[in-house]
Amino acid sequence: MEFRDLKTQYMRHKEAIDRAVEQTLANGQFIGGGPVARLEEALADYVGAKHCISCANGTDALLLSLMAWGVGEGDAVFVPDFTFFSTAEVVPWVGAEPVFVDIDADTFNMAPQALLAAVKRVEEEGRLKPRAVIAVDLFGQPAEYEKIRPIAKKHGMLLLEDGAQGFGGRIGEKRACSFGDISTTSFFPAKPLGCYGDGGAVFTDNDEWAELIRSYKVHGKGVDKYDNIRIGMNSRLDTIQAAVLSEKLRFFDEELEACNRVADAYTGRLRDKVKTPTVLPGYHSGWAQYTVRFSDGKQREEAVQRLKDAGIPSMIYYRKPMHALKAFAHMQTYRGDCGTADEACRTCLSLPMHAYLQESELDKISGLL
Ligand SMILES: Cc1ncc(COP(=O)(O)O)c(C=O)c1O
Repeated sequence: MEFRDLKTQYMRHKEAIDRAVEQTLANGQFIGGGPVARLEEALADYVGAKHCISCANGTDALLLSLMAWGVGEGDAVFVPDFTFFSTAEVVPWVGAEPVFVDIDADTFNMAPQALLAAVKRVEEEGRLKPRAVIAVDLFGQPAEYEKIRPIAKKHGMLLLEDGAQGFGGRIGEKRACSFGDISTTSFFPAKPLGCYGDGGAVFTDNDEWAELIRSYKVHGKGVDKYDNIRIGMNSRLDTIQAAVLSEKLRFFDEELEACNRVADAYTGRLRDKVKTPTVLPGYHSGWAQYTVRFSDGKQREEAVQRLKDAGIPSMIYYRKPMHALKAFAHMQTYRGDCGTADEACRTCLSLPMHAYLQESELDKISGLL
């Protein structure tokens, strides 16, 4: 059984994907060009953002956003304590300090009240200036932007949506990657929209930031990449990946629907055994993960073993909260209470989730939990 079945996906769409890759090979342009421009246009359109700027991966997408805002030394950037390392990793990269915020016990996403408390503490302490919030659409469900945005606004902060796992999610009809002042995503293969290598994108309605990010991602280019007007980096999505992504975008909604059916089928089978995912009213997950929670760590480890013995993959996202990672040990400013994140790290488990899971496989997995 596959955790994310990229092989079946490829075999179902082999002809179209192969054709797109072959065309790119035949054209002989491997960086930039028509396929990249067309993908950016299609993605901006899908998400409902004015600009889409593709880049090399989801981590760079976050970094480029902070660079465009000029976030740096003396700035506090608020990130959820329960996320993938990249969300917080990019903060010290630009010289700022991450402040870890506890999560909501039901959605795993940044808890708005905890954000407010953390911002107030930083303001009282006075050493750092609250500059930005990075909210993560964890496991596919958008963060609570209608509560987070007013807090960011009131305290003069910019809002960055880390939609690396969120692509395909919605609040009402508004799609993920359109909730931040800048939003980002990742096209890592196992992500909801994944390519066959690394890839990422930045979305914004702001012309000035879009222009800056287009420059930063190509060595701080001015009129061209030999006219370097600022210190940038090399972060481009290559043309073959763009061609693959354009093909995959065509059947993305169909797969999303199938993932929703799988999620419902899981929940029907599991709701009396474990804590199943909570999707808030009006919210729609992109189902990057289907993550359940056990009542304690021992029960989780026993379930992992039973699944493993039956040849079923499962993943623990994440074993450690950000505040406990060695990488940040020397730079923590404000250690708020992140007890809910700690608890999630002890008890959560992500199960196989993809559009091609069969009923019989769901029965097998459920029977072992
Ligand atoms: C929440 C989150 N942010 C950022 C990233 C970084 O994306 P990438 O691996 O493309 O750099 C990931 C990837 O796992 C992620 O899950």
